Amino acid sequence: MKILAITLEKCSGCAVLIDDKIVFSTSEERYSRIKSDSSFPRNSINDALSFSGLRGADFDKVIICGNRLSLLAPLMNEYSTFSVNDQIRAMEEYWYPNLVLGKNKSFLEVFKDKINLEQFPFNTEIGKKFDIFKLHNPYTEEDGRNVSNFFKQTIASLLEIEQEKIIHMEHDWCHAAYAFYGSPIRDDNTLIVTADAWGDDLSGTLSVYSKEKGQIERVKEYNHKDFQLARIYRYTTLILKMLANEHEYKVMGLASYYNGPVIEKVEKVFDKMLQNDGLEFIFNKDVLDIYDYLKNNLKNFRFDHIAAGLQSFTEKILVNWFSSAISKYNANSVVFSGGVSMNVKANMKISQIPKIEKFFVCGAGTDETLPIGACYHWAEMNGIQPKPLDTLYLGSNAAYDEKDISSLSQYTIKKFNSEEQILEQILKNKIIAVCRERMEMGQRALGNRSIIADPRTRFNVEKINNSIKKRDFWMPFAPVILSEYQDLLIENPKGIDSPFMTITFETKDGKNKFPAAVHQADGTTRAQLLKKEQNPILWNLIFKFYEKTGIPALLNTSFNLHGEPIVRTIQDALRVFDKSELEVLWLDEHIIEKK
Ligand SMILES: [Fe+2]
Repeated sequence: MKILAITLEKCSGCAVLIDDKIVFSTSEERYSRIKSDSSFPRNSINDALSFSGLRGADFDKVIICGNRLSLLAPLMNEYSTFSVNDQIRAMEEYWYPNLVLGKNKSFLEVFKDKINLEQFPFNTEIGKKFDIFKLHNPYTEEDGRNVSNFFKQTIASLLEIEQEKIIHMEHDWCHAAYAFYGSPIRDDNTLIVTADAWGDDLSGTLSVYSKEKGQIERVKEYNHKDFQLARIYRYTTLILKMLANEHEYKVMGLASYYNGPVIEKVEKVFDKMLQNDGLEFIFNKDVLDIYDYLKNNLKNFRFDHIAAGLQSFTEKILVNWFSSAISKYNANSVVFSGGVSMNVKANMKISQIPKIEKFFVCGAGTDETLPIGACYHWAEMNGIQPKPLDTLYLGSNAAYDEKDISSLSQYTIKKFNSEEQILEQILKNKIIAVCRERMEMGQRALGNRSIIADPRTRFNVEKINNSIKKRDFWMPFAPVILSEYQDLLIENPKGIDSPFMTITFETKDGKNKFPAAVHQADGTTRAQLLKKEQNPILWNLIFKFYEKTGIPALLNTSFNLHGEPIVRTIQDALRVFDKSELEVLWLDEHIIEKK
């Protein structure tokens, strides 16, 4: 069985499944070099074909993630070009009039200036025939069919296949299948939870895996108008003048700096909007516009108090909900995906629910992994039990020719022979940029497109920020820890696996042992727990570092310039190396140093 699945939403991209295994997955932003790019993922699809050696005709099915698609994301590149001010304008000039004043304003009309018809596929023969200005707001059923047809025609023409081969897959089915089959858990009665802001009119689902049937069965779903947790988090992010749908993690990072009595007062503002009662969510119908409600009700609170109150509210809602679901469906194993699963602090709280024995959150639970889930769900529907994702190294190779390197006379170039060479540099407090082998899928660098450093000194945080990252001052860096030696550094009594940096852990004296890779306010750490088979060379390097220092971890952050996507090719790596003040670049076969 060969499946190609495509997402056209935020962080557009694709995945390829052959039989029971995902062989490739990537996001368009890595090619266009535009962060969170949502334009049509033509480059991703081309790379998927060339990597897998398949042609369109070879696929049994081509799946578009989501049943109800909007043209807004690819047409306006909303997720990559809208600023905080644009988002506030959307709230004030589109959402408030429509939600509160009962007007019928068109998003296309309000943001005429953002429409880009010069891009693929709007600039093709198929695109030029499609009159986007005839669409209603919201789409009628016929509009929905026309939008679906437009994408199907585009994909059919690109892949040279029959349009009949292309199907849609419901948004939350993609999240659920990714949550379960991406995880190593295959226990009967595993509870599968999805939570996000919106996908095909839902914002959450509960499902249970039946081992006997070899299938996930949905047991409950939540309408996006009832379960609005993700929206509340999103619009609070915007109230704090950070980019909604992007910088929620910064609000989460900020939350740990305050732990006082005002949390309760802020929480009450959120409680008045959304209540949890066992498995149900009750949303206050008097709140017509969340952003407007927050603007009015949070105006007297300080930024850090708001962040802390929001995070506390989020954890309370999720822990109550998960606890109720675990009791109701009698589950001990739980998996989680969807945008809300990116809240690594809430994930820690969920993992601590006493009845949970196994908990797994697969990497990048936002919409960029919908294609992997779509492949999994289709395979399952056809009697195939997909294999877990052992790693997320699912993207392009960093392959290069010797001649690409030999012409770089401005640098000192050495052959890479042993991890000792890198270790020596790390122990000299050099910051190492890495571009080796296959690129990671998702927003976390897991050692192949990473910047690594000695985590024992806070000085290295400053050095990384000055040389490349320019990270907000309150945001922590995270470590890659040898899974086999994690007991030395973190509290993990249930032995929870976290290979993709999706859960925070309490540390054992982390602020002293590896201060550059823990949250400076609360001493927790969002660790990547690395097993040897996942990345043997990186594992060996960290093991050698452990032998010298007693710390089985390195600081690990993504290799990119501030505001850019993670590097993909060797050319990207060299450009960023050149533009930054990084001193050492480690490629597959070479170590490059600035003179
Ligand atoms: Fe989603």
